[in-house]
Amino acid sequence: MSVRRPLVAGNWKLNGSRESVKALASALSAGAQGLSCDLLVCPVSVHIADVQSLLENTVVQVGAQNCSDEDAGAYTGEVSAVMLKEFGCSHIITGHSERRALYGETSSIVAKKTAAALRSGLTPIVCIGETLEQRQAGQLQSVIDEQLDAVINEIGIEAVGDAVIAYEPVWAIGTGQSASAEQAQEVHAMIRSKLQALDAAVAEKTPILYGGSVKPDNAAELFSQADIDGGLIGGAALDAASFLAIGKAAS
Ligand code: 13P
Repeated sequence: MSVRRPLVAGNWKLNGSRESVKALASALSAGAQGLSCDLLVCPVSVHIADVQSLLENTVVQVGAQNCSDEDAGAYTGEVSAVMLKEFGCSHIITGHSERRALYGETSSIVAKKTAAALRSGLTPIVCIGETLEQRQAGQLQSVIDEQLDAVINEIGIEAVGDAVIAYEPVWAIGTGQSASAEQAQEVHAMIRSKLQALDAAVAEKTPILYGGSVKPDNAAELFSQADIDGGLIGGAALDAASFLAIGKAAS
């Protein structure tokens, strides 16, 4: 861990009832005081208002899992970053592998959504990562390059310093099989050195989170790596005690 303040973000994905989500937010509100990392939860968009009102005046911030690349207009079914900001969001996840794989989001769409988040004054958490097939075919670097270059070309390298990057190897998501701390650090260092080559100040300040089967028992080792600045947590973020334990590991 470095000078960058650690961030532990929960991606709640498509989970929870209105009541269970409120209960989870209340438990976090009670338990989060005194942690010296930033905490963020990203509920389903219709749950954001409830969660935001429960977490107002706590250290836990609220974000969204997705946004439109447009601000307003005839785009049925979309939610814009402008609207998410009005509902108190601080961050928006862009380019999650589930959106890339299941909803056809290309790196170009991800880049436009990232730009939309920034345009509204929100912090995008840009997710990148390779599949097992790509890793085994020796394509790790080229996949990271393609996903990151699309964003850098759209927003410019300086604006990357206002974003968060999340490295989420697809093979580690929801599988219970996290990347080892060494495997994760290797890719985080690769990402940081790519930024370094373009702008040293941006490389120094941009947080790079790791995501993929982070649990209370592997979090501390992952977060102790030089270029791992926190985590993007799926399954373990749905349990307040587990999420807070991961927050403690980052503090
Ligand atoms: P898991 O922590 O459930 O593996 O999910 C990671 C993830 O996709 C976070 O965005």
